[in-house]
Amino acid sequence: MPYRHEVTDEQIEQAVALLRAGRLVAFPTETVYGLGADASNASAIRAVFAAKQRPADHPLILHLADMAALKHWANAVPREAWLLAEVFWPGPLTLVLPRALHVASELTGGQSTIALRVPSNPIALRLLNAFGGAVAAPSANRFGRLSPTTAAHVHEELGDAVDLILDGGQCAIGIESTIVSFRSGQAVILRPGAVTAEQIEDTLHSEIAVPTQSSPRVSGTLASHYAPRTRLKVVSEDDMESFLRRESAKGPVAVLSQRGRPHGTRAALWQVAPQSPAEYARHLYGLLRRMDDAGCQLIVAESVPELPQWAAIQDRLTRASAAGFEVANAATGT
Ligand code: TXA
Ligand code: MG
Repeated sequence: MPYRHEVTDEQIEQAVALLRAGRLVAFPTETVYGLGADASNASAIRAVFAAKQRPADHPLILHLADMAALKHWANAVPREAWLLAEVFWPGPLTLVLPRALHVASELTGGQSTIALRVPSNPIALRLLNAFGGAVAAPSANRFGRLSPTTAAHVHEELGDAVDLILDGGQCAIGIESTIVSFRSGQAVILRPGAVTAEQIEDTLHSEIAVPTQSSPRVSGTLASHYAPRTRLKVVSEDDMESFLRRESAKGPVAVLSQRGRPHGTRAALWQVAPQSPAEYARHLYGLLRRMDDAGCQLIVAESVPELPQWAAIQDRLTRASAAGFEVANAATGT
């Protein structure tokens, strides 16, 4: 019989008791695992920042059991936000809205807005319903690292810094939620995800604005975000062979590609990624973790198609590569 991940009612009760006591509980969502704390407890929120080693000015996402709670946490909710909430919640969409006055500034990194989402993972919903309040939860990884998509990843990242991990198996989506904010009622995507720009435009019957410097800060937009420890470079299929010839002379290279390994390739490890964007996203962070542990001097990800349904994956690969960008440039002259 295949192994099934079950979270018992007793475990949910234990998780709720820990949250009420100001402790930290990691739980699965449909995107990635979150590191949860009681959103109304400032010292619990500070413990999240300490566990993640995350700078205090990077705001957290609040997880709610249902959209009715939106009004409690957001001050003004534009019509467009209600529409998106109705269509995409529960699900992988985060809305950034003006915050209610009572919201602890620890949550928002001192900003005037708050990020909110209703996840669809059944275990997350059981936890949120049993807890009865909002759970602040960033991805359950150390700051700047790959988000965890299994309970084992959470343990690898945080060890004893988390009081309980609810094991819901592998996350269905595998990359973080789409983040949308509003400017005069117009939607702006701050982070692409499984809910696409096209879906949002279709729902709102209006175009999405392009983010600017003055848009609210998203820590995931920093170059160092979502990065493996090994430096990573994105290379096109056409350039792959000559790139590998140069790089493998310096030491072992791991490759992530949607093709099978070509004959005679000099990669030390050739990892085949799925063909569909949904499957690719689901496995991306797990594959990168495995490649990160392979002892290679470089990870090379073959570029993915320049198509809207690949935008979120392209975004994560670009961010993962940004950290080692200068080094890669200097090393290869490209
Ligand atoms: O899928 C997800 O969103 C996962 C799961 C656990 O829900 N959570 C997640 O949280 O990715 P975190 O903290 O790793 O990333 C949240 C992002 C950060 O980049 C943060 O800067 C941004 O949301 N954010 C939070 N509050 C914001 C605000 N008021 N304005 C703009 N960005 C905000
Ligand atoms: Mg994160």
